[in-house]
Amino acid sequence: MKGIAVFASGSGSNFQAIVDACESGELDAKVNLLVCDRPGAKTIERADKHGIPTFVFKAKEYPDKEAFETEILKSLEEAKVEFIALAGYMRLIGPTLLSQFEGKMVNIHPSLLPAFPGKDAIGQAIESGVSETGVTVHYVDNGMDTGPIIEQASVPIDAGDTAEILQQKIHKIEHELYPRVIQNILHTSTEKGEFA
Ligand code: GRF
Repeated sequence: MKGIAVFASGSGSNFQAIVDACESGELDAKVNLLVCDRPGAKTIERADKHGIPTFVFKAKEYPDKEAFETEILKSLEEAKVEFIALAGYMRLIGPTLLSQFEGKMVNIHPSLLPAFPGKDAIGQAIESGVSETGVTVHYVDNGMDTGPIIEQASVPIDAGDTAEILQQKIHKIEHELYPRVIQNILHTSTEKGEFA
């Protein structure tokens, strides 16, 4: 069974969906580590409840990105992590981590990329007046939400949808989509003999 890590900065509802899918067997993997850059984030409580080890850090306590990513890398190695899912991790991944996990790191973004990359994708969609937005799962590269797209799902924006309502609709889709896409990737890579 593959050991995975989830990186999250906030509430961690996607972290929770991945953990639940592992526990139910829908996702044939084990969450060996939560990486979080915000001490006090709700996602840490969620990890504790499931006995999942955490690496929690404050970026400003390190001289630069390379320094904290080197520490993250050590934790990933100790936890025998083979695959990473970013889920609301509010930082760009640097070369230290990317060089070790390129092709083995995915992100979920709340829009139909390439539309509305970066922060507040939900607010951007509402502001722009489009009638449809969605969710994208993509591989991580060195850009902001630019890596190769793996799967997308659309979500309609109805008249009167506030950012809060739209976020709930998006979360519902994300929690089903993300574990399923991760399962597909891990299953396919196992069949191909990757991640041996
Ligand atoms: C999700 O909407 C995800 O698409 C985005 O950040 C949000 C994280 O939400 N990257 P949560 O912390 O998983 O609840």
